Amino acid sequence: MPVTRVLVSPEGPQFSRLILGYWRLLEWRMSPQELLGFIEQHLELGITTIDHADIYGSYGCEAAFGQALRLKPSLREQLQIVTKCGIALPSTTHPDHRLPHYNSEKTHIIASAEQSLRHFNTDRLDLLLIHRPDYLMDADEMAKAFNSLKKSGKVRHFGVSNFTPSQFELLQSRLDYPLVTNQVELSPLNQNTLTDGTLDQCQRRHLKPMAWSCLGGGRLFSEQAYQPLRDELAQIALEVDAASIEQVVYAWVMMLPSQPLPILGSGKIARVKQAVQAENIQLSRQQWYRIRRAALGRDVD
Ligand SMILES: NC(=O)c1ccc[n+]([C@@H]2O[C@H](COP(=O)([O-])OP(=O)(O)OC[C@H]3O[C@@H](n4cnc5c(N)ncnc54)[C@H](OP(=O)(O)O)[C@@H]3O)[C@@H](O)[C@H]2O)c1
Repeated sequence: MPVTRVLVSPEGPQFSRLILGYWRLLEWRMSPQELLGFIEQHLELGITTIDHADIYGSYGCEAAFGQALRLKPSLREQLQIVTKCGIALPSTTHPDHRLPHYNSEKTHIIASAEQSLRHFNTDRLDLLLIHRPDYLMDADEMAKAFNSLKKSGKVRHFGVSNFTPSQFELLQSRLDYPLVTNQVELSPLNQNTLTDGTLDQCQRRHLKPMAWSCLGGGRLFSEQAYQPLRDELAQIALEVDAASIEQVVYAWVMMLPSQPLPILGSGKIARVKQAVQAENIQLSRQQWYRIRRAALGRDVD
């Protein structure tokens, strides 16, 4: 069964229920041809939405992805491209960045989006996110950047990442159209958005958050401190007939009523194939709470 397609917000866009994240693309050391094969395989599974950022791979991932896409430009029509801007990192390609900082100026947002379009060899981005809230963010100026990109058709939808609910509301208050998502860290290892109002806001606004590092960036498997969590996940995997503890984690994330969209971080197609099966796994309420308890080391009050 291919991955389900869902509306991220009532006004769109429509994304695949699981998303392929390309932050680690350069670590995968794929040739353009190999990457093309990987893209075609996850498209076959129904994962049509991809997540990037201008800075990924020291500003190298978007261009590497675009190189693969140039081998088969028709694939663009099957993909929804999400990318981000707003973090400025020192790099050989950006000698003017003397230190890591945030930049949400109109000129920066527009220049970054246009650079992303060139990298992907496309005329439109499906969704542009502001990567992190800028302490110097001027919501009116950001809205002007969004309006310009929307009017020219270069960006279809806008959203944010790692924003608090009040930062989200501030930016939203300056826009005539809805922000469609908040992309946040969300996993049993990091449950902050369950209690800080972020997921409540998503549910209230009928928008689906995008969930990054559902496996804690791999720490779920490597850190001794997570042994009790691994044991509980393994026990529940047996109970629900899941093939791996990752499947249980993705099911745990997707069970939240705001219906988060997990972003997968693996470049291994076997792991991606495993992950998509998570859509078929239903946890009971008490299994969900057992995972929460195992991760936090305590019961609810
Ligand atoms: N908005 C933001 O601020 C933000 C921040 C971080 C990430 N993101 C997005 O979220 C995406 C996913 O984040 P992530 O890469 O941290 O996700 P993740 O799924 O938590 O971690 C992926 C890492 O876990 C490893 N892994 C997966 N299954 C494993 C297993 N069974 N055993 C051992 N290791 C395993 C992967 O290695 P293999 O490659 O070997 O499978 C990879 O190194 C990123 O690509 C990016 O698009 C957004």
